[in-house]
Amino acid sequence: MEQKDALWWQRGIIYQIYPRSYQDTNGDGIGDLKGIISRLEYLHWLGIDVIWISPIYPSPMKDFGYDISNYTDIHPLFGSMSDFDELIAQVHTLGMKLILDLVPNHTSNEHPWFIESRSGRDNPKRDWYIWKDAREDGSVPNNWLSVFGGNGWEWDEQTKQYYYHAFLKEQPDLNWRNPDVQQAMYNVMRFWLDKGVDGFRVDVMWHMIKDDELRDNPLNPGYADLQADYNKLLPVYSTDQPEVHEIVKQMRVLVDGYGEKVIIGEIYLPIEKLVTYYGANNLGAHLPFNFQLLTLPWEALQISSAIDAYEAALPENGWPNWVLGNHDQQRIASRIGLGQARVAAMLLLTLRGTPTIYYGEEIGMKDVPIEEDQVQDPQGLNMPGKHLSRDPERTPMPWDNSANGGFSKVKPWLPLERDYKRKNVQLQQDDPFSMLTFYKRLIDVRKKERALSVGSYRPVYANHQLISYIRQWNDDKFLVVLNLTHGVCYFTPAHLELKGTIIVATHSELEGLPLNGTFGLGGDEGILVRLEE
Ligand code: NOJ
Repeated sequence: MEQKDALWWQRGIIYQIYPRSYQDTNGDGIGDLKGIISRLEYLHWLGIDVIWISPIYPSPMKDFGYDISNYTDIHPLFGSMSDFDELIAQVHTLGMKLILDLVPNHTSNEHPWFIESRSGRDNPKRDWYIWKDAREDGSVPNNWLSVFGGNGWEWDEQTKQYYYHAFLKEQPDLNWRNPDVQQAMYNVMRFWLDKGVDGFRVDVMWHMIKDDELRDNPLNPGYADLQADYNKLLPVYSTDQPEVHEIVKQMRVLVDGYGEKVIIGEIYLPIEKLVTYYGANNLGAHLPFNFQLLTLPWEALQISSAIDAYEAALPENGWPNWVLGNHDQQRIASRIGLGQARVAAMLLLTLRGTPTIYYGEEIGMKDVPIEEDQVQDPQGLNMPGKHLSRDPERTPMPWDNSANGGFSKVKPWLPLERDYKRKNVQLQQDDPFSMLTFYKRLIDVRKKERALSVGSYRPVYANHQLISYIRQWNDDKFLVVLNLTHGVCYFTPAHLELKGTIIVATHSELEGLPLNGTFGLGGDEGILVRLEE
C-alpha cells in the first residue's frame, strides 16, 4: 500500500533518550534537561524528527522514574519546569517533535493518590488502586506474579488488605475500572498537551486493566529456569483484557482533539494481538510498538517471515513501525555484534514503517558489564544470578574522548563503555567509515526518497542467510539486500531482471557498483540499490 499524505509520525524518525544517561550539565553524574537541550543540534544534524524522553517527573527513583509521585512536574534531578519549557520550545524551533513517557498503569507508592488510598478503607481514593482481602488462610488474593520477581501482592498492615503491583511493591497498580482514575490520567495528558507536547509513549499499555474477577493465571508450560519468575505463569487475566481497548480509544480521542499528535503503545504481545491495539476503526494507538526485531532470533528466514507476517496482519490504514532496542533490552550491537548491527541499521532504516533509534545505537554502543555488587536496576537486584539487570543498556552516552566521555565532569551514575575514547560521537562524526556516518547516510537517503520513507514494501527473496525486498514510490524503486550472517552469500536476481546501482552499503567500497545478475555479498554486508526502470 502506498501512503499518500504521510503524517509526521509516519515519515519521521524517532529517537529515544534515557535522560539519566544523555548529558549531565549540573555536575551530579546524572543527565538532565539542559543536557538534552545542549545536544539538540546534534540530533537535528543526524536527521532525527521525533524525540521521546523516558520519564522526567518527580519520583523516588525506585524504578528510575517509572515510579511517579507527581505526573505534572519535573524531577529536580533533571531540572525545572522552565527547563522543560525551553526544551520543548527549542525542539520545535528546530522543526522536531517531543514525546513524553506516560505511565498510567501504576504510580509510586509515594504519590498522594496512593497515600490517601492506603490511609483507610473508606477513603474516597481507596478504589483508585486494586485492594483485596486475603484469602481465608491469610494468603495472597490470587497467584499473580510481579514482573520484577515474587508475587504481585503487598500486605498493608494498617488497613488489613493486599494491593496489587505488576512491578515493584513501590509501584501500586491503578484501578482503571474507576472512572475517576481515568479522568485523573486524562487530565495529566491534557496538562502536557496544553504545554505543546506532540504525543505520548504509553508505558505497559497492555497491562492497564485487569480481569474484574481477578482470576488466577494459568501455568506456563514453556517456562525455562533462567527466565524471570514472572514467566512461570501466562498473564491471561492480568494483562491484555478486552476492556483495555476502550481506554486506549478514550486516550486517542483526547489527543486527536489537539491536532496531529501521536500515541505509541509499549506492548509486548504476539503480532496478532499487537495489531488489535490499532483499535477498531483505527481509534487506538497510532503506533503499537513492534518489538519483533529485538525479540526474535537474528536469523534471516525468521526475520523475513516476521516482516511479511506483520505487513499482512496490519489493519487497513494501520501504519507499521520498527525498533531495534530500548532501555529494557540488551543493546543490538551486543546481541548480534557490530558487523551485524550495521546490517540491522540498514534494515531498520529501509523497512516500511516508522523507525525508533535508541540513543547510542547510532555509534554502535554496547552493553556495559556491571558487577553484581554494583547493580542498581531493581529487576536485577530482585532476581540475582539471572543477569536480568537493565543497567548495562542504560550507560552514559560518550560524546568525545575527554574524561567521562564528555558526559559529565564527575563520575557518572553508571560507567561508560571502556573503549569510549575510541568510540564516541566526535570521533565518529569525522570518520567516513563509522557507524554514525553510516546511520547519517541512511537517514539522509530515507528522508530524501519517498520510496524509502512511505513507499510500498514488496518482499523479493529470502533464504537462511539473506533477505531482500523492494521499496517503491511511483517510478522510484529501491532494492535492499541484507546478509544476516558472517559468511558470504549470493543474491541471484537474474530471473527478476533487477538492474541498478548500489547507493548505500554497509561497506562503502560497494557504493557505485552496478547490480546486474548474481551479486556476491561478504559477511555482514548489506546494500541499498537504486533500480533502473
Ligand atoms: C516498562 C518500562 O519500559 C520499564 O523500564 C519499566 O520498568 C516498567 N515499564 C515499569 O514501569
